[in-house]
Amino acid sequence: MNTIIVGLQWGDEGKGKIVDFLTETADVVIRGQGGNNAGHTVIAQGTKYVLHLLPSGILWDDKINVIGNGVVVDPVGLVAEIQKVEGQGVSITEDKLFISDRAHVVLPFHKELDAAREIALGDQKIGTTKRGIGPTYADKVNRCGLRMADLLDKEFTTAQITRRLVDANEVLAKYDLPTFEAAQVIEEVYTAFERLGPHVTNTIPILHKAWKSGQTLLFEGAQGTLLDIDFGTYPFVTSSNTTAGGSCTGSGLPPTAVQRVIGVCKAYTTRVGSGPFPTDDEGLSEYLHGLGREFGATTGRPRGCGWLDTVLLRFACMVNGVTDLAVTNLDGLDAYDTMQICVAYDVDGVRHELPPADRSAWEKARPIYETLTGWKTDTTGCKSFNELPEQAKAYLKRLSELCDAPVSFVGVGPDRAQTLVV
Ligand code: GDP
Ligand code: IMO
Ligand code: MG
Repeated sequence: MNTIIVGLQWGDEGKGKIVDFLTETADVVIRGQGGNNAGHTVIAQGTKYVLHLLPSGILWDDKINVIGNGVVVDPVGLVAEIQKVEGQGVSITEDKLFISDRAHVVLPFHKELDAAREIALGDQKIGTTKRGIGPTYADKVNRCGLRMADLLDKEFTTAQITRRLVDANEVLAKYDLPTFEAAQVIEEVYTAFERLGPHVTNTIPILHKAWKSGQTLLFEGAQGTLLDIDFGTYPFVTSSNTTAGGSCTGSGLPPTAVQRVIGVCKAYTTRVGSGPFPTDDEGLSEYLHGLGREFGATTGRPRGCGWLDTVLLRFACMVNGVTDLAVTNLDGLDAYDTMQICVAYDVDGVRHELPPADRSAWEKARPIYETLTGWKTDTTGCKSFNELPEQAKAYLKRLSELCDAPVSFVGVGPDRAQTLVV
């Protein structure tokens, strides 16, 4: 069975952990969108890995990992990540990692352009990860981007970068940010490409061969549904389609190759970066930060934390076609007497069961809560779903009803082993 894993909230739902858990029974793990704005934490046999561009299957021997055409690849960042993970004892060989020759390249100046955009936006800034994601996707859509395959032609690449830097440097100078010489950019990129070149190939026939021969495919989504460029809280979103469809356009595998969509959500809600967050709760944020939890895996920023928002989840289940829910971080609520679940928004006295599109409605959205009784029990040692306290099961049952999707996996701790199958 081939499966897409997607985030149902604003990212950091625990996708990495769920992908890693399911990789045991998979053959190929594929990233189809996003870039190193992602930070996927996997804790396996006591070792913590944080992956940004590498698919989480890289931690397993004998699994094939593909960085698809829809991903934006920062060659310098990817080499640093490979070196770090290799330093942790993971082998990254040419027969284990394949990078699409159609993937767009994040260039050093894209990161500075990202910073420039944020300065220009002032108090309306997106709160990006400053990894150059927006500017790289903008160049892709504007048809002036550079793809991995282009790097094979150094003359073309040099001309393209030289041309692009004319505009880019003008913008950077305006905001007193560092400007770039083409020669310096070329050197940086080609030094990284020496390490990456052997992995770059046409990944589409590799994926189709795996599919047709009955291998099990796992698509590792990055970010989350509310950060999707079409379905998210625009403009406070990322620049790719983070939803299920992005896995197909980002890999060259068709929708007919997929049988299951697992939507990952936390038992509460978190958000890092700017934008609306109706169920944001200072008390819950303080409590979780006090436990050393909910700090961004990529930027280290504290994530805002709030109650479970099923308005978001209901919508996310619809647009992704979620067949199964994976609810992580249930243990984060272990100490609470009561908890709130947002079942709808009130916008100027009108009840909304789905997220609005317009910004002013988002600003005015007030959560309508249902209160549930807590379980006040440490769940981190539970080894099966049946061992969970009754109130925890009731919480998950209500979540499932409100989203109209079954809960199939529950996370009670960050370790690979702390994943319960329902
Ligand atoms: P991703 O971006 O969706 O892969 O998620 P991140 O790795 O950015 O953030 C999820 C955080 O929650 C990480 O620190 C994980 O180690 C942690 N995590 C995942 N599942 C669980 C769980 O069930 N319980 C606990 N306590 N932590 C979890
Ligand atoms: P994973 O895969 C959480 C957020 C940023 C910002 C917005 C735009 O780990 O779930 P960008 O750098 O993409 O232009 O930033 O999106 N963001 C994430 N938040 N998890 C992520 O990835 C994110 N990737 C981007 O904080 O609000
Ligand atoms: Mg993350």
